[in-house]
Amino acid sequence: MSRLLAIAGCLTLAAALVGATPLATAQDDSPAESGPEDVEGEVSEEDLVESGRELYLTSCISCHGIEGVGSNRAPALTSDGSAGADFMLRTGRMPLADPTNQAPSKPQAYSDDEIKRLVAYVASLGDGPDIPDVDVAAGDLARGGELYRANCAACHNASAVGGALSYGDHAPSLLSVEPLQIGEAMRFGPGEMPVFGEDILDDQDLDDIVRYVVYLQAPDDPGGLSLGRVGPVPEGFVAWLFGLGGLVLVLRWITMDQRRRRAGKALGPDEGGA
Ligand code: HEC
Ligand code: HEC
Repeated sequence: MSRLLAIAGCLTLAAALVGATPLATAQDDSPAESGPEDVEGEVSEEDLVESGRELYLTSCISCHGIEGVGSNRAPALTSDGSAGADFMLRTGRMPLADPTNQAPSKPQAYSDDEIKRLVAYVASLGDGPDIPDVDVAAGDLARGGELYRANCAACHNASAVGGALSYGDHAPSLLSVEPLQIGEAMRFGPGEMPVFGEDILDDQDLDDIVRYVVYLQAPDDPGGLSLGRVGPVPEGFVAWLFGLGGLVLVLRWITMDQRRRRAGKALGPDEGGA
């Protein structure tokens, strides 16, 4: 009985250790590591906006004009909100070297910290959509499939590989877009894409659709235990820890017990005689 308890204890300990490794946080948008002055609570919203404005003056104003009113080179930013700014910067569409009507996505040009500042500044210019809370795990896959086919497939294709639109524009492939940017695109409506506001697709619909697009990005589930899809190396590590680690502990326990019994036998007569 006590041995069972001890084994259960070992497993609980192993589970706690696994819980302590940063498995679940691989996708987490935890606050960016940034300069020392960015410790939480020390940078006020005004400071963020102000330092975002400085970045804007050097890299964006030439096209988007004073306070984002727009120019003949680029649209106004006054209704983009944090969703639009974050989307354009994280997909690398902005900044741009030469104005075009459909900026291509590129590797992200700014650090997370700089993006936070620029986003705060653009959001302060007017009234636009906020960055949505995207919770992929809370999405319903089947419902997401229905909503995707009804609202998105006409432009992005049923398998999300994208497709041509009129005027030489195209709806890009969705196969390598991050979940948060999928949600932001819906709320903001980049370029020719319509805006899907909360009145059309609520937060649950949004999670459902994102879940479905993420599923299209990796439809072949290799099976096995889902460990947050963090990849083979950490998953293998967990198998080692649980499988081998557990076995070693159990074996040690059994042999310790035998050794103790043998020792007990050897002592036996002495003790009996005393
Ligand atoms: C060379 C000119 C140019 C520069 C510099 C530039 N942009 Fe743009 N921006 C554009 C054009 C053109 C569009 C519209 C094209 C598109 O939507 O793909 C655009 C679109 C945007 C949009 C979406 C607007 C909307 O309502 O559709 C945002 C947000 C944005 N830019 C932010 C920025 C920020 C922030 C910077 C500075 C880091 C920046 N841009 C620098 C030309 C520029
Ligand atoms: C009328 C056609 C149309 C519909 C409908 C549409 N989109 Fe789009 N979508 C576009 C176009 C065009 C772009 C590219 C905009 C740009 O870069 O200027 C785009 C861009 C995107 C992007 C950014 C992709 C990237 O490479 O960064 C995502 C994500 C996206 N759409 C998701 C959706 C989802 C989800 C739906 C359904 C809720 C949807 N779209 C419905 C036309 C459409």
